[in-house]
Amino acid sequence: MAFPVSRLRRLRKNPILRTMISETTVRVDDLILPLFVCPGENKITPILSMPGHSQMSVDVIVEECGRILETGVKSVLLFGIPETKDEHGYVACKEDGIVQKAIRAIREKFLNNILIVADVCNCEYTTHGHCGTIVDGDVDNDLTLETLAMQSLSLARAGADVIAPSDMMDGRVQKIRKVLDENGLYNIPIMSYAAKYASGFYGPFREAAGSAPKFGDRKTYQMNPCNSDEAMREIDLDIQEGADIVMIKPALSYLDIIHRAKDTFNIPIAAYNVSGEFSMVKAAAANGWIDEEKIMMEIMTSIKRAGADIIITYFAKEVATILNRSK
Ligand code: PBG
Repeated sequence: MAFPVSRLRRLRKNPILRTMISETTVRVDDLILPLFVCPGENKITPILSMPGHSQMSVDVIVEECGRILETGVKSVLLFGIPETKDEHGYVACKEDGIVQKAIRAIREKFLNNILIVADVCNCEYTTHGHCGTIVDGDVDNDLTLETLAMQSLSLARAGADVIAPSDMMDGRVQKIRKVLDENGLYNIPIMSYAAKYASGFYGPFREAAGSAPKFGDRKTYQMNPCNSDEAMREIDLDIQEGADIVMIKPALSYLDIIHRAKDTFNIPIAAYNVSGEFSMVKAAAANGWIDEEKIMMEIMTSIKRAGADIIITYFAKEVATILNRSK
């Protein structure tokens, strides 16, 4: 039936009705907040390109987790800034590594009232800033699987609830699953960064985590932004290897990939609203060019509408505060 019988504006007039027929809901429970843990005590180093975010020492991060829980956000994703780095990232596999320490301290204070997701990658821990062991000028896939598995095991033993490999090596989900299972950690889920693109949107994060590659780029392991079919292959393989949740990253320029993944696979989908996406909003808002709250909520809604079940975002606390206000 066409106009004038059909008038779509009829359902937009009454705000109660408008809310009633709203198709997408963002919930505080959908959100994961990334945090950066650094050595030292009582240390807070603001990340200039990410207003409101800082590198925090373990004691500070524990306090911060208290404030996060107060907003209703229950999940954090931990990244580490280590005291020293090495060629292979062994420093990330130590029982007393920086993230391992943070996990133990957060767990001790908040028990199981918080979900701790541990990012697994070598780039913050290698002297050259690449995500694995370098052989002939490129990251060697199979050698890197060894450190990723060691790092995962160590993080899971420290008490991580979820292991999230972000390195984009082939076969790492299978390898990590095997090592966790062999060590009795068969109940620890793997959230794989399945389709992670070689993106310019990671710029601020590399300042935050001190993980910029010292030479070259990540194009031999992260995906070409032109490709969508390949993302489906990546996700399919990760699921076959045992991934429990698959992630698409970044989120905003890749909403089509999120949508396609949701249509194609029957598995929870996470989307990473990355640092550059966050910083652009903050910068524009600081200039008075956009309404920050409105844009932030529109971004969250678009990621959910595209098909994501989980959103990893630096906006998590602010989004939660807004959602609580409108209750
Ligand atoms: C580590 C990693 C990166 C991000 C998450 N894990 C950086 C990269 O791949 O260079 C980016 C997160 C963000 O930009 O918010 N491999």
